[in-house]
Amino acid sequence: MRLQGKVSAPGRGTAGKAGNFRGLQKVYVKSYGCQMNVYDSHRMTDLLTREAYAETSVPEEADLIILNTCHIREKAAEKVYSELGRLRALKAARALEGKSLLLAVAGCVAQAEGAEILRRQPAVDFVVGPQSYHRLPELYTRARAARGLLATEFEVERKFDKLPQERSASGASAFLTVQEGCDRFCSFCVVPYTRGAEYSRPVAALEAEARRLVAAGALEITLLGQNVNGYHGLAPDGAGEWGLARLLARLDRIEGLARLRYTTSHPSEMGDDLIAAHRDVGKLMPFLHLPVQSGSDRVLAAMNRRHRLDDYRRIVERVRKARPDIALSSDFIVGFPGEREEDFAATMALVEEIGYAQAYSFQYSARPGTPAAAFSEQVPEETKRERLRRLQALIWRQERAYNERSAGRRVPVLLERKGLRPGQLAGRTPHMQVVNVAATPHLLGRIVEVEITEGYAVSLAGRLASAPTRPRRPPAPPNEEARTSA
Ligand code: SAH
Ligand code: SF4
Ligand code: F3S
Repeated sequence: MRLQGKVSAPGRGTAGKAGNFRGLQKVYVKSYGCQMNVYDSHRMTDLLTREAYAETSVPEEADLIILNTCHIREKAAEKVYSELGRLRALKAARALEGKSLLLAVAGCVAQAEGAEILRRQPAVDFVVGPQSYHRLPELYTRARAARGLLATEFEVERKFDKLPQERSASGASAFLTVQEGCDRFCSFCVVPYTRGAEYSRPVAALEAEARRLVAAGALEITLLGQNVNGYHGLAPDGAGEWGLARLLARLDRIEGLARLRYTTSHPSEMGDDLIAAHRDVGKLMPFLHLPVQSGSDRVLAAMNRRHRLDDYRRIVERVRKARPDIALSSDFIVGFPGEREEDFAATMALVEEIGYAQAYSFQYSARPGTPAAAFSEQVPEETKRERLRRLQALIWRQERAYNERSAGRRVPVLLERKGLRPGQLAGRTPHMQVVNVAATPHLLGRIVEVEITEGYAVSLAGRLASAPTRPRRPPAPPNEEARTSA
């Protein structure tokens, strides 16, 4: 799962749909961590704006602030406490004016640390785990009278069934969580503890939600799950289960949708049908984030990844055969307990061998309660830092070379946000590269043809090759993009 850094979650401007009502209380939601948190933040905002709040992107204006947190590495979790320290001061300043401010912690730190958060930062009014968001109205109502509420049960009722259906516009590129939780228990990872057991949402509910997203303006949908290619949801006719490949084929038929993506996949779940989908599903973009974590079989075994390097190599080979222009991405952990110099050298060699379009690498961070935290042979900090530096230098070299090879090509780009410089918009190519291009704001949310002029380390520069090829609605017929991107 790609980490987003900090993003102010919904990003839909100051006033939400209830923003016209004077005197309505305001909510500010801030997302940390992966795309699943971004998706959840949208769903929370949808619920709150339906119930009692207007949305704001300015924390100082808010009457309720929710931090949607990430526990994946120590730094991510600690960030939350420093932010809470700042918010405590805001809350105290408000109190002097005779006004109140509710502070809430949601997400994976909420689930993992629960009451500990209330102890470390008593200004927090309530803590709500990722499976309990439908309880928000009850929580903020009770929190106005009593502090220190905790809602972190793994509930029997699914939050997806209880949250409001209607989705406010989340832009031209939308996320859709199809599966939650993880049963894989990699020895370094907190996700199975913070998100609970794997659960796949039914195909019919997902198709309906995808159609609503498209009706609200989405041209691209990214299907999300911690182990998304292990998806197995109830079939539309209620008989049996469908895997991710069939779900993709179903969503491919939605008129008005131009692009499909999915993330994050596990190598052990990369079945024949999903590999074939990269050839057969016209709207599925030629990009695959398939984390391998390490290039050493010894380390992979200690990580409990349950696949060997040769399995990974075979998958890459087959995916490349199915979709020759596919761009590959991965996550790597360096300095896992017991990782020796030769194991790290094997990771470097694997990166050289595969050739990534992009990749993420992290220093191993021991997480409380995970098996690897108790392993002997923890790697010293300086060694981890030094290995990370070497690996990142190699990955950046590859990414730059990949981007440089794009110069001179014409590619369809979905313009999603403001660009690097004034007068520019930024978007992504089918291969997931970020492109900055001079364009007027009315092209935001459209797919335009761009001629790539320059490739850099982490982005591309381009110029509009033509006026937008099609109106906003109805968008491209199936496969048009796949053809133009080849
Ligand atoms: N479900 C995804 C991973 C989600 S976490 C998958 O299986 O690939 C995103 C990435 O964070 C992981 O791929 C891993 O590279 C990294 N990560 C997870 N736990 C970590 C830890 N304890 N220390 C350092 N990096 C970690
Ligand atoms: Fe964590 Fe492994 Fe599950 Fe990914 S597959 S979320 S790394 S336990
Ligand atoms: Fe972080 Fe939780 Fe996502 S730990 S990476 S926010 S699933």
